[in-house]
Amino acid sequence: MKKQILFVDDEHRILTGLERMLHGKRDVWDVTFACGVDEAQKALEMKKIDVAVLDINMPGKTGLELLSEIKNNTETKNIEVIILTGMLDGDLKYKALELGAADLLNKPVQKEDLLARLRSVLKIKAYHDELVEHNVLLEQQLIQSQKMELIGHLSAGVVHDLKNILMGISGYSELIVFSLDGNSQAKDDLIQIRKSTQRATDIIQQIHRFSQQGVKVEKECSLGLIIDECVNLLKHSFSKDISIDWHTSETIWLLEAESIQIYQVVMNLCVNAAQSMADGGRLQIRLSEVNLEEESGSKKQISASGHHVMLEVSDTGIGMDPETLEKIYNLSFSTKQSQGGSGLGLSIVQRIVRNHKGFIKVKSQPGCGTTFSVFFPLSGIN
Ligand SMILES: Nc1ncnc2c1ncn2[C@@H]1O[C@H](COP(=O)(O)OP(=O)(O)OP(=O)(O)O)[C@@H](O)[C@H]1O
Ligand SMILES: [Mg+2]
Repeated sequence: MKKQILFVDDEHRILTGLERMLHGKRDVWDVTFACGVDEAQKALEMKKIDVAVLDINMPGKTGLELLSEIKNNTETKNIEVIILTGMLDGDLKYKALELGAADLLNKPVQKEDLLARLRSVLKIKAYHDELVEHNVLLEQQLIQSQKMELIGHLSAGVVHDLKNILMGISGYSELIVFSLDGNSQAKDDLIQIRKSTQRATDIIQQIHRFSQQGVKVEKECSLGLIIDECVNLLKHSFSKDISIDWHTSETIWLLEAESIQIYQVVMNLCVNAAQSMADGGRLQIRLSEVNLEEESGSKKQISASGHHVMLEVSDTGIGMDPETLEKIYNLSFSTKQSQGGSGLGLSIVQRIVRNHKGFIKVKSQPGCGTTFSVFFPLSGIN
């Protein structure tokens, strides 16, 4: 997306000069020229400005007053501001820096000076935006981990109580079975009740094991075992029209990672896959070892070489067009907002994978399903 730059000056002559200097930059920057404060305020409301270049002396409201308004408004505070100053502006220059200006530019403006300062301020803004995005993600990841931890603690009590109730149902059914003679229909029905009770006990035990393992903080974890646990849990919650194709792996695939984070990766990918198959389909999970020459993932991923385990999660769902694919890792990007999607899942997956020196590749086409391939470097112990 083109960066948005706003120039504010009360003199048309100066704005025309600036416009001429920036003529060759129109394909990389979107430039708006505002003559005076009123026009500037309109542009600030209408557009998502990245950098504002403000004249220090303007009638009505000075550049410094406008700067202070920009920095005190939560909607605009992340705009980087450059102040245009003249020879006579003296201490006002320092005041501008105190108020949060990123740089100062002397009048008369020289083209090379202007371009160099714009480039450097845009670079600072890009670092700043990335830091803000990382912070939000880290916060969300922490909340998710804390929620899992809480569920782990709560589930211990719930599992205990539910097991007692189920034991009661199962025990009384058994007593009635013994008291009934012969092969009555009632006896067969009671045997079914006992079987269902046993299944319910297994499921709650799985939930409990899952949440307990999530709480532990280890330095190593087995990707194979984590997928086993996730699949056991998910098969009870997915619609019956979705088949899960996963064969417990013979290799356990040790990763240098905390299991809670790897759970988050597997769960988010599988849940997305299932959500893309509202009318049913097949979720396939595969693990294999790959020796990479020099490989790199899609956008913003690092490159890597050597032994990796490749986790593939494929679905036969709705797939994605190139435009959606471009945005899937963006914080808060979701095409499922009406169903409660927050757009955090893949941002968190990407962050965890990157932190473990891995990378992700995605293949998808509308109507033809999606495959996410996640590469993790193998720990030396495998
Ligand atoms: N397997 C998939 N098939 C089709 N689209 C997908 C798939 N995985 C992700 N997407 C697309 O990527 C978007 C972002 O996914 P992400 O997991 O980050 O958020 P979400 O699933 O919408 O919400 P959340 O995970 O926070 O509940 C989804 O809204 C969807 O459009
Ligand atoms: Mg999701």
